[in-house]
Amino acid sequence: MDIIEGIMTRRSIRHFTGELISDEQLDTMLRAGFQAPSAHNCQPWEFIVLRDKEKLKHIKEFHKYAKMIEDAGTAIVVCGDKNRQERIGFLVSDTSAAIQNMLLTAHGLGLGAVWCGIYDQPSLVDNFTEILNLPENILPIGMVVVGNKIKDRSIQDRYDENKIHYDAW
Ligand SMILES: Cc1cc2nc3c(=O)[nH]c(=O)nc-3n(C[C@H](O)[C@H](O)[C@H](O)COP(=O)(O)O)c2cc1C
Repeated sequence: MDIIEGIMTRRSIRHFTGELISDEQLDTMLRAGFQAPSAHNCQPWEFIVLRDKEKLKHIKEFHKYAKMIEDAGTAIVVCGDKNRQERIGFLVSDTSAAIQNMLLTAHGLGLGAVWCGIYDQPSLVDNFTEILNLPENILPIGMVVVGNKIKDRSIQDRYDENKIHYDAW
């Protein structure tokens, strides 16, 4: 699959076979995360790989939109280091670019993945900070839940020329 096809056909996948992704697939996804652009090339991301069943079950209890996490079997919590990037807008942008790189890579590998939001929902930020034992300077931004998908989802064409403006609004 080339990069344009990957972007055009990616969908959030929330139903998984239960078979875990391989270490090699995980490594490719992580490497893709590190390749994201970042403001001033600060690369303020940190990645926490979750595969522990008890931890996944625990997350399912407090994140009502991440119920698929147990079936997926793997999640990557993407955090931002406030010491490396002090501006929260840039921190969120940089880590979000890393998340999108990983979602597209999962799709390119034939896996299913979904972005689960963390920041800026205070209770989720607090819960993740506690269960992952995050230091004060590390902010959990989002989580990529990834696994082997049961089936593909249909492609959506969201192109809307009314939202495109040339030279001014
Ligand atoms: C910041 C952000 C947070 C999201 N949080 C969740 C979530 O917690 N659970 C979930 O199932 N999907 C979540 N999504 C995925 C969106 O629901 C999904 O991208 C959207 O419905 C469009 O569908 P698509 O990804 O298939 O194109 C999130 C997406 C973004 C960008």
